[in-house]
Amino acid sequence: MPRIITIAGNWKMNKTASESVDLAKPIIQALNNQNEVAVIVCPPFTALQAVSGLIENSSVRLGAQNVSDKASGAYTGEISAAMLRDLHVTHVILGHSERRAYYSETDAFINKKVLAALENNLKPILCVGETLDEREGNKTFDVIHTQIKGGLAGVTIAQAENLIIAYEPVWAIGTGKTATPALAQEVHAFIRKELSALLGESVAQKTRILYGGSMKPDNAAALLAEQDIDGGLIGGAALAAKDFLALVESGKAAAGKKA
Ligand code: PGA
Repeated sequence: MPRIITIAGNWKMNKTASESVDLAKPIIQALNNQNEVAVIVCPPFTALQAVSGLIENSSVRLGAQNVSDKASGAYTGEISAAMLRDLHVTHVILGHSERRAYYSETDAFINKKVLAALENNLKPILCVGETLDEREGNKTFDVIHTQIKGGLAGVTIAQAENLIIAYEPVWAIGTGKTATPALAQEVHAFIRKELSALLGESVAQKTRILYGGSMKPDNAAALLAEQDIDGGLIGGAALAAKDFLALVESGKAAAGKKA
């Protein structure tokens, strides 16, 4: 069974609720009920409810950009997995490099959120990736190894069915610098090997590994053609319906070739 190509939009801290509806509507209308590609949109928390209403009868899935590691209680400002599930959220981006860098999230803390998500039927999209310094210092594989092992500690083989990984080289995020397909493929293959060592070959073969970092309509086809690149986590290009839909089309074309 080939892995289903997955195109996920990370809207980051952009779009009010009404702007989110304006962005989501043409995407949902254009995609109708296609199921060749798995499509996920991840608006900010404040827009989840509004977008949730729109996707009710569509195949587009709703993702959040963070979740609390705690179930409920006195944690001011936090949002639990159960609260997200209540809004029909199915996925959650965790370990994004912006949260690691600006909010000091460690692998241990990200791991708690991964486990909280999985225990509450939310599918984590766990992001990993090296900085430019780490790449230039030949530390890429060490960094990815530590992030995968730390982020997935305690995840069972059964839970891993619901896991998605995103390789996002920090130096390529929002910079216009994309990893070359060959360079990205090398790291994706390494991640799959790490998954195999940690959770077994069957999990490794089934798990989708998305690429993220300046993926755009004009570079997507070459990236998605690589054997271990199973989709994209899209930032900037997810903020325009036309670009995002073009990426979904690239996903469909890649799916046809990989089938
Ligand atoms: P970008 O962001 O596509 O704007 O580089 C990707 C991400 O941060 O998920």
